[in-house]
Amino acid sequence: MNKYRVAQVGIGHRGVIHANAFLQISDRFELVGLCDINQERLNGYANDKKLPSEILFTDAEKMMEATKPDVFCFVTQPDLRLPMAKLAGKYNVKGLAFEKPMATSLKEAWAITKMCKDKGIKAIISHQHKYLTSMQKMKEIVDSGDIGEVSYVNATCQAWLAQLGTHYMDYILWANNGSPARWAVGHVHGKELLSDHHLSPNYTMGHVEFENGVRSYFEFGKLSASHMPKENFWVDDRLTVYGTYGYAWGDANGRWGAFTKSSGGDVIGEVGDDWGTQQSTRLQPLYMKDFADWLDDDSKVHPCNIDISYHGYEILEAVCISAVDNIRVDLPLDPDTCEDIFERMRKELPECPERVN
Ligand SMILES: NC(=O)c1ccc[n+]([C@@H]2O[C@H](COP(=O)([O-])OP(=O)(O)OC[C@H]3O[C@@H](n4cnc5c(N)ncnc54)[C@H](O)[C@@H]3O)[C@@H](O)[C@H]2O)c1
Repeated sequence: MNKYRVAQVGIGHRGVIHANAFLQISDRFELVGLCDINQERLNGYANDKKLPSEILFTDAEKMMEATKPDVFCFVTQPDLRLPMAKLAGKYNVKGLAFEKPMATSLKEAWAITKMCKDKGIKAIISHQHKYLTSMQKMKEIVDSGDIGEVSYVNATCQAWLAQLGTHYMDYILWANNGSPARWAVGHVHGKELLSDHHLSPNYTMGHVEFENGVRSYFEFGKLSASHMPKENFWVDDRLTVYGTYGYAWGDANGRWGAFTKSSGGDVIGEVGDDWGTQQSTRLQPLYMKDFADWLDDDSKVHPCNIDISYHGYEILEAVCISAVDNIRVDLPLDPDTCEDIFERMRKELPECPERVN
């Protein structure tokens, strides 16, 4: 079991969760560099955790140069993906960890994925809800065969495509054991969030067929089916896996439910801790421990690896292309010839005022 020297950029809202996990699992990681352009934020965190001033930086490249880490982690807003990822390549790290959405275009997503492949960098993207007790229970039931053979996966979330949609696309692939998509069709509308820092149409609906014959329907953003009161907006999402016999679902609010061969004709379920409670105590430490295990051993591929994230990104791009061109889109896509779909949606989608009631 090796211990990895990690340097991190960004100590905002999510950066704190990442850094806390590195400090918490100190048998697997040593935080050798922490960088933020916001000096006050950086010092606030460093004082709180009693970090030595030598590991603090306000320039990411200077931090990489000074620390030469094994692992580079960046936790910034989506506009900074490629320049940050390139630092991982330039400084020959073994591992790269960064946040969703993995990119702001398919070209960028592919450039990062290809660089990691070419340089032999193991990379993970934070789709860490897979570690929620509710999601793990749902997956355990599905994998046990207790719902029969998987036939269809449904996902909904109130938050938009680049916020929680990217998470749920990844969980659809996970639930279906990574079978690649064959084709996608979709509908999108609403331009407001195409100028958000998490670029998205206001509403996205997709229908995908995978190579193993399983289908998925999903919807993200305004108008999506809701399962909770409005104040639970950020955890109002659900992944449901249907089988030839029954179904199992999990959500970010810690709940799961199922109807299975062994449930004796009953619907069963539980309410566990929600996402907010689990994110620091469970999700991030488990997610990062699995990363250290993968860095130790090539055969222990991380469930949030860059290949599954890239394919999820590609499917979402296909859904948006289908919506704009009114066609079925077959996968894989060619990232070199794909036009910037967000730019196209900005230009081509009609104005669509939201209903207020
Ligand atoms: N996986 C999850 O569950 C989850 C949850 C929330 C947010 N996120 C994602 O995390 C990412 C970051 O979100 P956030 O809410 O932490 O953002 P944030 O704005 O709170 O933090 C970003 C930090 O990066 C710093 N920064 C920006 N440019 C920098 C640079 N060039 N060098 C050094 N530091 C720089 C900023 O000063 C800021 O402190 C987003 O992509 C978001 O989607 C993921």
